[in-house]
Amino acid sequence: MQNNDNKNIILTGFMGTGKTTVGKLLAKKLGRQFIDTDHLIEERQGMTIPEIFAELGEAAFRQMEADIARELGEREGLIISTGGRLMLDPANVAALSDKGRVFCLVATPQEILSRLKNDPDNRRPLLDVPNPSEQIVELLQARKRGYQRFLKLATDDRQPSDVTDSLLEFIQRNPKHFAIDNPAQPYEFIVGNGILPFTRQLAGADGMLVVITDSVVGKLYAQSCGSVDHVITIPTGGQQKTLATVQSIYDQLLEIGFDRFGTIIALGGSVVGDVSGFVAATFMRGVNLVQCPTSLLAMADTSIGGKNSLDLPQGKNLIGNFKQPTVVLADVATLSTLPPEEMLSGMAEVIKHGLLADTDLLEKIEGSTWSLQAGSFYSSPVEIQTLVAQAIQVKISFVQKDPFDLGIRSNLNLGHTFAHAIEKVSENSVRHGEAVAMGLVAAADLSMRLGHCSGQLKDRIDQVVMKVGLPNRIPAEFSPEAILEAMSLDKKRAAKSLRLVLPVQVGQVFIADDVLGSEILDTLYAMSGN
Ligand SMILES: NC(=O)c1ccc[n+]([C@@H]2O[C@H](COP(=O)([O-])OP(=O)(O)OC[C@H]3O[C@@H](n4cnc5c(N)ncnc54)[C@H](O)[C@@H]3O)[C@@H](O)[C@H]2O)c1
Ligand SMILES: [Zn+2]
Repeated sequence: MQNNDNKNIILTGFMGTGKTTVGKLLAKKLGRQFIDTDHLIEERQGMTIPEIFAELGEAAFRQMEADIARELGEREGLIISTGGRLMLDPANVAALSDKGRVFCLVATPQEILSRLKNDPDNRRPLLDVPNPSEQIVELLQARKRGYQRFLKLATDDRQPSDVTDSLLEFIQRNPKHFAIDNPAQPYEFIVGNGILPFTRQLAGADGMLVVITDSVVGKLYAQSCGSVDHVITIPTGGQQKTLATVQSIYDQLLEIGFDRFGTIIALGGSVVGDVSGFVAATFMRGVNLVQCPTSLLAMADTSIGGKNSLDLPQGKNLIGNFKQPTVVLADVATLSTLPPEEMLSGMAEVIKHGLLADTDLLEKIEGSTWSLQAGSFYSSPVEIQTLVAQAIQVKISFVQKDPFDLGIRSNLNLGHTFAHAIEKVSENSVRHGEAVAMGLVAAADLSMRLGHCSGQLKDRIDQVVMKVGLPNRIPAEFSPEAILEAMSLDKKRAAKSLRLVLPVQVGQVFIADDVLGSEILDTLYAMSGN
């Protein structure tokens, strides 16, 4: 993985959040050059910003900002503090974030006001209005959407030196940042080792902060998120994805006075992620959501894309909605306690992502020495971080192309029509990832039978699944006929025919629209075994 060390660090945010002071301190600690874009423009023009505005006009100033963004974006190793509006222009964001990490410093309007009042250097007319506090609230609201996409760093009532220290500590963990451009809510996916303790500071919250977790993960990690207002714990296990669980969470939120300005932190695997996503989407018509996935499946797959679902007595995943998080913080250190069989279950989705788009990822898994049989699945945090980063990039590319799951995102269902049927027939005694592994092999077998892929690809998929210790055969106790029947009830079934995603080669799938039951049965019989 590329080390962050020499990447530019860009600090943005509203005036009075301390980006220049923190930037200077950070530059000193890291022995790097500091650049304040406003000062650089003033220096080059030999004029102050008010003079530039008065004599050359705002458009000229914005053009100067754009030129500087492009210029600095080409360089490395800088600490850059930007003018308050520079990062509201997507072209500037693209120029600077390509080789840099962006942090948006945030503070409450009261803190901003008191800092600006105490700043002898403050040359802005902002305070020369009858009600400066109201003016700040209004401006912050107007900027909110523009700053939405960036990783927030709360400055609270801390001294700039404290803010600098925590930023430095965070950067030194070398997390990887990925931007997700969603029309409803652009956000970042951060994967790192030991980043959970930064959750509170990175949540971007200005209201109450509530963690929703399960009984296993809560005991291990709820305390690590930093001080929060409340922790809601649901029992562990897939049976929790119900309206009854959601109702009990609503009750607790109301009891503590949680309102629409609050933020929910989903700390746990995909079950916690689904339940929390549903709650965050619906409570008071929607509150902020931060995803802190702690299982490999959640990190490499379900914490991205915003889909959540709940079960009804009539079937699994029958209701749900889209709720994008404001940020996803995936701390791979938490995987050290994930049971090996859960780790393995997540590997099935990682293999799927490798097959869908990333030859290198697939080869890495094929060449790795990790397997459940070897005792533990936990490799070094760096290796796992790379694996999660590569897998999530595949998911990101699909959800960005198809945010509402109307087209190409369905490629991510590779192996899943088989998997859901196997889970159903097994009455969920087969884990999701195990079922996906069987489903991937089944999809390859069917694809080969229908002439869409080579026997070589089918063998390759079979081998990689087996190599990591996932099942490549369907237990004989689940009859092919029962699985076929469960498949045709799959909710993703098109009106008249069974729609299946079939592999063609690594990076390419074929959507088969009318696969015959008899063809599927041939595959299911061939796969029925140990
Ligand atoms: N990929 C999909 O298609 C998809 C999408 C949404 C939901 N799901 C559902 O997600 C579930 C499986 O996902 P999951 O594995 O994330 O489920 P999960 O949330 O149930 O987590 C699995 C188990 O691991 C424990 N756990 C999680 N993180 C831990 C950690 N760091 N240390 C110790 N224990 C930890 C949990 O308490 C739980 O017992 C299935 O029910 C599946 O149906 C799947
Ligand atoms: Zn899945």
